[in-house]
Amino acid sequence: MTDTVPMIDSELSEQERLEYWAGEATRVTWNAPFTEVLDWSDAPFAKWFVGGRLNAGYNCVDRHVEAGHGDRVAFHFVGEPGDTRSISYRELQQEVGRAANALTTLGVVAGDRIAIYLPMIPEAVVAMLACARIGAPHTVVFGGFSADALAARIADRDAKVVVTADGGFRRGRPSALKPAVDDAADRCPGVEHVLVVRRTGEPIEWHEGRDLWWHDVVGTASPVHAPEAFDSEHPLFIMYTSGTTGAPKGILHTTGGYLVQVASSFETVFDHRPGDVYWCTADVGWITGHSYIVYGPLAAGATQVLYEGTPDAPHRGRWWEIIAQYGVTQFYTAPTAIRTTMKWGDDIPAAYDLTSIRVLGSVGEPINPEAHRWYRDTIGGGTAPIVDTWWQTETGAQMIAPLPGMVDAKPGAATAALPGIAIDVVDDSGASVPNGHDGYLVVREPWPAMLRTIWGDDARYVETYWSRWPGVYFAGDGARRDEDGHIWLLGRVDDVMNVSGHRLSTAEVESALVSHAAVAEAAVVAASDPTSGQAIVAFVILREDADAANPGIVAELRAHVGREIGAIAKPREVFVVPELPKTRSGKIMRRLLRDLAEQRETGDATTLADTAVMAVITAAVAGAPDAKEA
Ligand code: WT7
Repeated sequence: MTDTVPMIDSELSEQERLEYWAGEATRVTWNAPFTEVLDWSDAPFAKWFVGGRLNAGYNCVDRHVEAGHGDRVAFHFVGEPGDTRSISYRELQQEVGRAANALTTLGVVAGDRIAIYLPMIPEAVVAMLACARIGAPHTVVFGGFSADALAARIADRDAKVVVTADGGFRRGRPSALKPAVDDAADRCPGVEHVLVVRRTGEPIEWHEGRDLWWHDVVGTASPVHAPEAFDSEHPLFIMYTSGTTGAPKGILHTTGGYLVQVASSFETVFDHRPGDVYWCTADVGWITGHSYIVYGPLAAGATQVLYEGTPDAPHRGRWWEIIAQYGVTQFYTAPTAIRTTMKWGDDIPAAYDLTSIRVLGSVGEPINPEAHRWYRDTIGGGTAPIVDTWWQTETGAQMIAPLPGMVDAKPGAATAALPGIAIDVVDDSGASVPNGHDGYLVVREPWPAMLRTIWGDDARYVETYWSRWPGVYFAGDGARRDEDGHIWLLGRVDDVMNVSGHRLSTAEVESALVSHAAVAEAAVVAASDPTSGQAIVAFVILREDADAANPGIVAELRAHVGREIGAIAKPREVFVVPELPKTRSGKIMRRLLRDLAEQRETGDATTLADTAVMAVITAAVAGAPDAKEA
């Protein structure tokens, strides 16, 4: 049977794999060389490029200037209102130098934590690189998260400084950020300073002594800053993501291994060449923005587009207009965005010259064949290869992707492991499945950009990722290995939802719902959705003293979840039900709720404690007012 268990990098021996990564490590400039590629003696706690010293900020900026590329554009920034600004690597170096000096003046030293809550403006990148430069690990919080979510992250990290803006522009209107920071900082006494970028010019509240304008502090600082080299395993950042419980996990990434793998994958997967203009539409508040806007492309010295807004502001051709204007050669986005723009009609992209595009990337969820074909034909002129990249916040860098031109991409398959990555698909017992079978996606060997732990919770790190099959990293995804050995991602097998490429757990939304005074119990499922991939559907039991007849309750609960987590977490539908389907041991049978949410006949309910309960719930759902409109 082993001859049908294939390809998956198993042809590389351990020694070859480590040699491969040692070779890739030459993409990065080291101040002190590493003495060992990998120390796995304390598995699953990895050390990569042991003893090496480097500065991630220097690698992303200064060395390109020193190599004579100071005039090369690092970012073509496009603001949503139409303001533009091209920033060369030399200008970026000066801005980052100023910001690093300013943070130092504020008392920030290596090891201190900084929270960043900014729109997609150049200052977001500058702030991240300044943190990297002085060894102060950053936590970037997506601007769409609420004050509560921000406060939880600031507190978990004990952040000393928060970098924010008065607001950003969204769909033609200023959208405030500072009030959420005020609310969060009031609850986090560890916050000494809030550094505020003026973006919208809207009035904001000001806390004398704590709040400082970016232009006052950074704008007046010296642009000259000498980077210090840090250990390869020095923490670079923490990125929060949803797990299967209510509390988000702080995923820790360190410096050397992360930088090597993001630089390496960026260059190979996107076939990056001098003169290219690359554009990734992700927000810097997510891992994609960290790895494939900031660290990977900048380490490679790439020229990028950075766009503040949405694809439909001020018109639905905005993305394609930007591609034509800057001659974008590589474009990286998510299937949900592809499906949305596809729905708007072919005539919109047809009005723009998209012939500059050479490679198209996809990330975040499986790309359905229809969207894959449309992306290739309508955006890629029928010829651009689509690199469907599978990876996670935890993996730090792309793990599965077809290399353009090398692998014949099948619509819907992320295809094969990247070099040096030991991907496998296994069954319940942990054995590799043969071609033509489904199983669980795992990584059999450590990789340079892997998470090092969950911040403050080593035990949860081991338990979550490394204990289902000892010594094997379990990603949480189901996968199929097809007849040719290619990998097809089948979605999560745990209670993690994927809504428009955003990761949320059912438990997180449930705990937001039950924190509302009217709710006694809540169960949340992900129903498939033609645009967002999955959509959140909630079933709630109200408290006896709650006014069940209150017609506004559904709208109120959706708004409540928006306040607790952020607008992305608002359920598409909320159904008030008298009971939830439970097994005899009290476990909610989400499978049955998913059937209801997807308007299917409900499946086998024989393990329910009370088999009559489904009829009662179904009747409640059928009788619900049009919850979608609420
Ligand atoms: C989960 C990770 C990687 C950055 C964005 C999301 C799903 C991601 C793909 C893909 C099928 C994908 C998986 C994974 N996913 N890329 N190309 N094909 N599924 O990062 O929020 O950490 O979510 O996104 O389910 O586990 P994330």
